[in-house]
Amino acid sequence: MEPCSFIYRLPKAELHLHLEGTVTPETLVELSMRHDASPLDLAQARALYRYTDFSGFLMAFKAVSEHLRTAEDYELITWSMLESLARQGVVHAEVYVSVGVVYYWRRCEFEPLFGGMERARARAESELGISVYWIFDAVRHFGPEEAAPVFRKAAQLRPQFPSIIGIGIGGDERRTGAEPFRDLYAEARDAGLHLTAHAGETVGPESIWGALNIGAERLGHALSAIHDPELMDLLAERQVPLEICVSSNLRTGCCRTVEDHPLRRYFDSGLMVTLNSDDPALFESDLTDEYGLAQKRFAFTEEQLRELAANSIEASFLPAEKKVMLLRGIESLK
Ligand code: ADE
Ligand code: ZN
Repeated sequence: MEPCSFIYRLPKAELHLHLEGTVTPETLVELSMRHDASPLDLAQARALYRYTDFSGFLMAFKAVSEHLRTAEDYELITWSMLESLARQGVVHAEVYVSVGVVYYWRRCEFEPLFGGMERARARAESELGISVYWIFDAVRHFGPEEAAPVFRKAAQLRPQFPSIIGIGIGGDERRTGAEPFRDLYAEARDAGLHLTAHAGETVGPESIWGALNIGAERLGHALSAIHDPELMDLLAERQVPLEICVSSNLRTGCCRTVEDHPLRRYFDSGLMVTLNSDDPALFESDLTDEYGLAQKRFAFTEEQLRELAANSIEASFLPAEKKVMLLRGIESLK
């Protein structure tokens, strides 16, 4: 069912979105025609998006990422992503880019590719009125040695590109927890970067404690916090923002059914919940769908959806003046 017009009109921020996960099979065919001797057809491209569990999903994410080669590719996918976000009423986005995949699998320089992303960002800011920050994401199961150049590149480029706002760790937390990244997180914080981490997506609450212990300011997924009352209390008391991604959790099998998902219980317990789409092309669900799901399957009222949108602005890394301005837009929406 189509999300209602209130959801589209609601000014909101998307805080957990992977650039590579926004690439549709149609765009992948276009990119493949640019680069491959025997380009993928649409059926072959679609086949790359099929998976049955979390490990399969990570493989699909890698397969899509491998087709992104040039600065022009990154410019195209960034522009397509931002056009889609603007259509959904997203006024600000903080987007993960998997620099770790570029370094580890492609062994190539990231800066020229980032140039393409920046061109699309600047154009979208002026033509679509949407602001964008980048979060440089490392692949945690490659270990801290591979994460170090990712975070250091963010620190090195940030003075020239203030759109680089933070760092994060994605990938397989079953293989690598947060603790090995402690020193690198401290170094990134000292460089003025914000700290995020996927945590408690595929494993228990100990992974969320681990992320908090190394200084993560915002948590991706945090599904398993529901099993730890002490952690729930702490998250509520500190108002730690949670980047909740319901469709992602259902499609990867991290959460079995909608009824099992803790979104409603988190919200009712006073946690700082935000809604996000994670990898919309791989989950066939965008941010308006996530708000629609909250309304239809979790009984969120329009006033509560407004609260979720306000949370997304408050939990962003935007400066206070801009937050105040955007929050006014949410309050005044009829
Ligand atoms: N990379 C892209 N999406 C991810 C997710 N949901 N979990 C871990 N790594 C990811
Ligand atoms: Zn993610």
